[in-house]
Amino acid sequence: MPEAIPAALEILSRRRSVKATDLVEPGPDEETLRAMLEIAIRVPDHGKLGPWRFLVLRGPARAEAGRALSARWAALHPEEPAERAELEGLRFLRAPVVVVVVSSPNRRAVKIPMWEQELSAGAACQNLLNAALFSGFGAQWLTEWYAYDRDVARTLGLAEHERVAGFVYIGSQNDPPEERKRPTYEARVTSWSPPDEGPDEGQ
Ligand SMILES: Cc1cc2nc3c(=O)[nH]c(=O)nc-3n(C[C@H](O)[C@H](O)[C@H](O)COP(=O)(O)O)c2cc1C
Repeated sequence: MPEAIPAALEILSRRRSVKATDLVEPGPDEETLRAMLEIAIRVPDHGKLGPWRFLVLRGPARAEAGRALSARWAALHPEEPAERAELEGLRFLRAPVVVVVVSSPNRRAVKIPMWEQELSAGAACQNLLNAALFSGFGAQWLTEWYAYDRDVARTLGLAEHERVAGFVYIGSQNDPPEERKRPTYEARVTSWSPPDEGPDEGQ
């Protein structure tokens, strides 16, 4: 009989994201963050392509990258007050560390569908969330508008074929997050059985 790890299962069964706005200092130190990212890298990856990469924003880099959000918001919404654009520039400052998980598919690997490569980037985001959780930190996977903006992507150094899979905000948390309504097991899980064969046509 396989041996379960009840403590790990208990933590996963209560898993919750912590809102980026509720994340506070301290963030993970270099060594802890590295360990988290090593876990993020260890995801299912059909064909061993490593179709993702990670950009770390911490310290002043968060405000510097935020300037791109601010400028882009102002360009996209000239009718809006300048204060709103300034607020956009503060997004990365919500948490001590922000990891940009970049989906970086290999277009020459024609045997591995693009979909699978992108799913692997999503799995990397989830592994990173779980690594943060098990390291005692809170984290949230966000996209928001700037994950989909090519101008912002270029500022972050993404190539044309790359996309942001998620911004994973990581930090400490003061209070545990409240429970969130989940779909029920019954609503989402069924056991497959072969479809009923109707009466044979033509007999
Ligand atoms: C790909 C992806 C993008 C997301 N982007 C956002 C977002 O932009 N804004 C947001 O409020 N939540 C977003 N979420 C949801 C949060 O990550 C998180 O799931 C939510 O806050 C609920 O917390 P939970 O993880 O405890 O269910 C996104 C989730 C995924 C998977």
